[in-house]
Amino acid sequence: MSDFDLVIRGGTTVTTSDISVCDVGVKDGLIAAIGAGLPRGDTDIDATGLLVLPGGVDTHVHLDQPFSSGADIADDFASGTASATAGGTTTIVCHAPQTRGGSLTEAVAAYAVKARQARIDHGFHLLINDPTPDVLERELPALVAAGHRSVKVFMTYESNRLADAQILQTLAAARRAGALVCVHAEHHELIGWLTQALLAAGLTAPRHLAWAKPMVVEREATHRILALAEALDTPVQVFHVSGAQSGEEVARAQARGQKAWAETCTQYLVLGESDMDRPGFEGAKFMISPALRPPSDREALWQLIRDGVIDIVSSDHSPLRFDDPRGKKQHGEAAPFNKIPNGVPGLAARLPILYSEGVAKGRIDLRTFVSLVATNPARRFGLAPRKGSIAIGADADIVVFDPTRRMRLTNALQHHGSDYTPYEGLEVLGYPTATYQRGQLIFDGANVLAQPGAGQLIARSAYAEIAPTGRFPTPFNPFE
Ligand code: URP
Ligand code: ZN
Repeated sequence: MSDFDLVIRGGTTVTTSDISVCDVGVKDGLIAAIGAGLPRGDTDIDATGLLVLPGGVDTHVHLDQPFSSGADIADDFASGTASATAGGTTTIVCHAPQTRGGSLTEAVAAYAVKARQARIDHGFHLLINDPTPDVLERELPALVAAGHRSVKVFMTYESNRLADAQILQTLAAARRAGALVCVHAEHHELIGWLTQALLAAGLTAPRHLAWAKPMVVEREATHRILALAEALDTPVQVFHVSGAQSGEEVARAQARGQKAWAETCTQYLVLGESDMDRPGFEGAKFMISPALRPPSDREALWQLIRDGVIDIVSSDHSPLRFDDPRGKKQHGEAAPFNKIPNGVPGLAARLPILYSEGVAKGRIDLRTFVSLVATNPARRFGLAPRKGSIAIGADADIVVFDPTRRMRLTNALQHHGSDYTPYEGLEVLGYPTATYQRGQLIFDGANVLAQPGAGQLIARSAYAEIAPTGRFPTPFNPFE
């Protein structure tokens, strides 16, 4: 019997300390050795000429949850996590949604039952839609202590949005409990006002979503959540920064020493508002919130990444079917923009697109790529050191990636429940050839091999990254 169940041999391996050609030995689901000339494993893989990277960690995913629009989400845990494996992602964090008037504890328990179908490891964001005193003072601390270390709040969507007073209460409760607050930042009333004005003017096409949600909508809300979080010394993660102005708000908060971080998503780096102008109803395929932006914002996002202001790229996988009366066509093809459900799928496309557009085109280096898609999300969300790195003792979650493989993205390659991908036809250079979870081959470059139920719900312990700074605007500490 060999020392190793699996050896991935001779690949260019990105570890926590360096990038080198070496072997990775796996035993009992963990990375047991990294070095040259390891003895043969029970399974021995030649990775010469390939990249050996930590499995992707996608910390902004929606599976099997209701959408604000009332449309049906296209992925449950079985199909959504199949898609993840096909894109080299081995861990996800998705949203356990509390209903208004309902218990958060019961919502998480019900969601955990759905998640039993997951093929890969996963965690939950606690999506708080109704922050009652009982939820914040009794349920939240118990759920955080049980390992659900992140909270999600929305500043828009009628069924989700919290008022500023509720956001303050939630920030305070999360700080006390030790959870990271993630925010969907858009100014709800401004969107409503602009929407009514656009409809009255007869401007109802898909592209007018971007006119109802211009950057000022996002910039104002980003500024506001950062100010509230600063006043309460509560770390926050701004979700889906879509362009320069909201990124600049985050940069300013970081320069002040605030624990404020940001992600962008694949779609904001490669798609744009002009995609919503595609003929017929095609533009609906690109309707998301925040809306897609002009090319200048895409370039600004790459710069924010290079500057380290944005240090996570997630998918915001929000899959809807296109040709479906429960999907994008919920209100028919003549529906005005405000009646077309928002969301795009993107779990499987994230690593190939970011590698191709980022590393292959010289916008970022290989280490930055690994940090953006695996190491930083794992660290930020309390999944490290188990996830996000190739390191001895870490879970053997590994993606073997061929940097020379040219692929044209198609819907079939996504292995998801949606009937389209917004990236149809996009040519990428670099693609996963094998994905491993805890040493098991779960995607062989063409087929998803992981079975529903193989994934584990990862309990996340308290971690230093999200400890408050102890600094307040005045000498008064409201938490003492
Ligand atoms: O457009 C995005 N990002 N998601 C839509 C989610 C919803 O609840 O409508
Ligand atoms: Zn989302």
